Amino acid sequence: MYIPIVFIISQLLLLSVNCCEELSESKLDYLEELVNSNFEKSRTYKQPIDNSEFFKNGGSFDTIHDYGTYDFIVVGAGSAGSIVASRLSEVEKWKILLLEAGNYDDDLTDIPYIYRVLQLSARNWGYFTVPQKNGLFGFKNHQSPYIMGKVLGGTGTVNGIAYLRGNRGDYDKWASLGNPGWSFDDILPYFKKMENFQSNNIDLKYRGFGGPLNVAYKEPKEDLSRLKSLTTNLGIKYIEDYNAKDQIGFSRSQKNIQCGKRVSGATAYVRPSMQRHNFNVTLKSLVTKIIIDKSTKTAKGVEFVRNGKKYRAFAKKEVVISGGAINSPQILMLSGIGPEDELKKHSIPVVKVSPVGKYLKDHYSFKVYYRSNETIPLKSFRELLKEYIQGRGMLTNLDNTLTYTFINTKNKSSSVPNLEFVLLGTTPVPNVIPQLSNYIEKIDQFNSKINEQTDYAIEVYILHPKSVGTIKLKSNDPKDFPLIDTAIFEAPEDLQLLYESTEILSEFEKTDFAKALNFTRLDFEFCNQHERDSKPYWYCAIQHLADPTYHMSSTVKMGPQQDPFAVVDNKLRVYGVKNLRVADCSVMPSTISGHNNAPAFLIGEKAADLIKADHGIPVETGICC
Ligand SMILES: Cc1cc2nc3c(=O)[nH]c(=O)nc-3n(C[C@H](O)[C@H](O)[C@H](O)COP(=O)(O)OP(=O)(O)OC[C@H]3O[C@@H](n4cnc5c(N)ncnc54)[C@H](O)[C@@H]3O)c2cc1C
Ligand SMILES: *[C@@H]1O[C@H](CO)[C@@H](O)[C@H](O)[C@H]1NC(C)=O
Ligand SMILES: *[C@@H]1O[C@H](CO)[C@@H](O)[C@H](O)[C@H]1NC(C)=O
Ligand SMILES: *[C@@H]1O[C@H](CO)[C@@H](O)[C@H](O)[C@H]1NC(C)=O
Ligand SMILES: *[C@@H]1O[C@H](CO)[C@@H](O)[C@H](O)[C@H]1NC(C)=O
Repeated sequence: MYIPIVFIISQLLLLSVNCCEELSESKLDYLEELVNSNFEKSRTYKQPIDNSEFFKNGGSFDTIHDYGTYDFIVVGAGSAGSIVASRLSEVEKWKILLLEAGNYDDDLTDIPYIYRVLQLSARNWGYFTVPQKNGLFGFKNHQSPYIMGKVLGGTGTVNGIAYLRGNRGDYDKWASLGNPGWSFDDILPYFKKMENFQSNNIDLKYRGFGGPLNVAYKEPKEDLSRLKSLTTNLGIKYIEDYNAKDQIGFSRSQKNIQCGKRVSGATAYVRPSMQRHNFNVTLKSLVTKIIIDKSTKTAKGVEFVRNGKKYRAFAKKEVVISGGAINSPQILMLSGIGPEDELKKHSIPVVKVSPVGKYLKDHYSFKVYYRSNETIPLKSFRELLKEYIQGRGMLTNLDNTLTYTFINTKNKSSSVPNLEFVLLGTTPVPNVIPQLSNYIEKIDQFNSKINEQTDYAIEVYILHPKSVGTIKLKSNDPKDFPLIDTAIFEAPEDLQLLYESTEILSEFEKTDFAKALNFTRLDFEFCNQHERDSKPYWYCAIQHLADPTYHMSSTVKMGPQQDPFAVVDNKLRVYGVKNLRVADCSVMPSTISGHNNAPAFLIGEKAADLIKADHGIPVETGICC
């Protein structure tokens, strides 16, 4: 077998570089205090109900301050925007402005396990869905939180750091929908370029090393033969690397993690490049509008508010919107790009009629819990933090994700899954982390029965739901949050498919793994008016518990001009407005069989090369366009 010499050298470097920190009492004291004080703050944290924080302190907005002229302005330092901006800043002669609504990521956001506490802090925008008709029955007013990061690194700084590219077939579908350049073979070089996959068993045809973004298997690793007993009698095969050739099967989870710490667009891209003289990263700034020349329909810059003052910045070449799948459509509509009725309703002058916000996609998921007859001993937070500093232990992990299983229940010969099952193990972490929730009382009662020391869970995701939601404006005031309608189970097939997934769950319950642990499924007693395990029982449970997974996408859909939902072309250029692109999950033409952070990174990498190529900067041969 031929192994490139660079690969061997990089692996040697990996082994020899001890990137983890020295353990010291003062470091430990500092982290313990940081964690405790943030838990305390979160317990009394009040979610914002709008964007008024940006408009405070100021007097009149009559004065508009000049923030200068740049070659490119990138709006939003999330998973995609972080990459777009820092890759563009590689071109020394270009001046780049990156505007982000949130503040810096920090030592707290670095700790993977405690990510839920970030939702009860200013790092979360504070969105909720509008009331739902066909689901979210377990949530007050049928509204679930809709978490999105407001911080350097965006949602990638508050997420579960699971790294899943999705399936070859997903990207081939993007291309077949009329988006040349986005087939799996076209985009694979970008996945390879961004990755540094830490593994001693790496298929170089598919995986990358030496890139900015660290990917590693979860630690501590479970005993593989025990995990394999999970699917004996099920005929599901073990896959070493679900991000390589095959995805169908079960495998261990890969994370964006380095020495136990979170890896994000902020840590891997923006922070290492923000010292460049041509790269201005301005935080705590809410972009309210794209400045567009009405006569030539050309983007000229943006308006934003920061600490109660209004600013204007200009872009000589292009404006790139990377505000994520909720805010990018909001910014476009506030700027006059959107559905005609929507703009008229809010008295926004029309620049370009466009189906912005009309095609919101997400994944939906629900969890079942199994009581085992093993009890994992608790550890103190200090003990856990000690391990974390050394790059190991449960805090380097999330919810103790043991395995991912991908299956296609409709077509056994398909290589593209329709369902994902995530097995979550017991955890030694004390149950003291404050969590944002909006459950009705009987669901809170159910949740209070769950014991993390003894209970396993399986979370089921529907990967390609048929339901289509929307993003609309509440008003023409950028102070207002947009209206998010996830439209869960609007398509009855989605609910039916999740119901059918319980057949697979009952198969899992018969495996050696489940037997060895004496698994007993916790009763959803809030559905006990129905016969246990009957179809009405499961429908009831799923309609109460299933919620969107914050994998929002497709609200600024990429597609050919004749696609009734397309807002941008295959180079991410907004139809009908010059010098304006969108680069984030909102451009995804269809859902992927995974989670959305990896495609967000991919879109960022690809967008940067598309822009460079259009402005005469040579990009790596064979990669771009
Ligand atoms: C709790 C949670 C857990 C998740 N877990 C996983 C996981 O384990 N694996 C996975 O693959 N995916 C996960 N996801 C999803 C994934 O993180 C997102 O799909 C991905 O980060 C989206 O990237 P993006 O670039 O499209 O948008 P974002 O990362 O959301 O970036 C948008 C950025 O723009 C900024 N912004 C928006 N509007 C403005 C404005 N008007 N002015 C200035 N700045 C603005 C925002 O503050 C934000 O920083 C999770 C999401 C959540 C919420
Ligand atoms: C960014 O530009 C603004 C406006 O010119 C300036 O005030 C600010 O100091 C710059 N910030 C950085 C980090 O260069
Ligand atoms: C099942 O998948 C195979 C392989 O992708 C495909 O050829 C076949 O048409 C699919 N069958 C159905 C019923 O969709
Ligand atoms: C298995 O679980 C059941 C409850 O569901 C319990 O009655 C039984 O004692 C358990 N058996 C063992 C060996 O732990
Ligand atoms: C758990 O239950 C299984 C099956 O009933 C049994 O074989 C096993 O010994 C039990 N383990 C413990 C720790 O009680």
